[in-house]
Amino acid sequence: MAPVIRPRRLRSTPALRRLVAETTLGPQDLVLPMFVADGIEAPREISSMPGVVQHTSDSLRKAAEEAVRAGVGGLMLFGVPAPDDKDAVGTCADDDYGVLNRALRTLSDDLGDATVLMADTCLDEFTDHGHCGVVDARGRVDNDATLDRYVSMSLAQARAGAHLLGPSGMMDGQVAAIRAGLDAAGFTDTGILAYAAKYASAFYGPFREAVGSSLQGDRRTYQQDAANRIESMREIRLDIDEGADLVMVKPAMSYLDIVRDAAEIADVPVAAYQISGEYSMITAAAERGWIDRDAAAMESLVSIKRAGASIILSYFATEVAARLR
Ligand code: PBG
Repeated sequence: MAPVIRPRRLRSTPALRRLVAETTLGPQDLVLPMFVADGIEAPREISSMPGVVQHTSDSLRKAAEEAVRAGVGGLMLFGVPAPDDKDAVGTCADDDYGVLNRALRTLSDDLGDATVLMADTCLDEFTDHGHCGVVDARGRVDNDATLDRYVSMSLAQARAGAHLLGPSGMMDGQVAAIRAGLDAAGFTDTGILAYAAKYASAFYGPFREAVGSSLQGDRRTYQQDAANRIESMREIRLDIDEGADLVMVKPAMSYLDIVRDAAEIADVPVAAYQISGEYSMITAAAERGWIDRDAAAMESLVSIKRAGASIILSYFATEVAARLR
């Protein structure tokens, strides 16, 4: 029997496929995470993330301009202090002259409102123990003492010109604390991109090299267990109630069900972070000739968008945005 219904009909030419595509990806959907380091003379390759570097201030400015020219929707900055500048409370994080705040100020001067400038609001890059918060006498990450540090860090980032702050430490109440701190200081227009559902993931591995993390142990007392889904709904709801302007799910590829759930419950934009390990897996397999880098990068990003994210943080952002243009 010849079939009457033929779904293949709509796949028969590139133009037809384009016409009926349910998901489209644009340069503006992509946000480029960038690393800026103190005390280096030239950009430093991150060996586990081929193609990604720790920037100097100069190379950061050039790469940011290139990304903006390619049409990306925004930039997310991470600071990498000199090892000597790390301490138990991450002093460098809220120092107006700390590496991240200096870089934010520079890019804010260069780019103004031509892009959306975002900052990672977390202590792990700045603490000598590598945890995302301050540690108490018993070695546990102290939630409420950490909130005070996040507020101070947020104010420094707002002063430096960040449009959106990205609290990624998974402390309880972090969005409410930061919102109250910003508002009290008059930064009512500085927004919060909340890492709402963030899982303790093995796929962060290359990031730890990227920021020279000194972490011993793991983050399982604050980041979520991969086994849980309902818990993410609670985290997302809490962050929205606390005043998050956008919510993020992280990582992306192993958590597309959570991205979908987030899109269904959130009445704010949903972002997803295609993290370091996701980038490195694609890059490594492509280097071995096992997969096509461009095609795999595009497919991964379209999948994340299809799952429900309207914004995607990705180390592929500039190259993919340039191709989409
Ligand atoms: C915490 C933070 C991490 C990432 C972004 N913000 C690391 C972690 O939670 O261990 C990971 C990003 C990536 O892997 O690309 N400041």
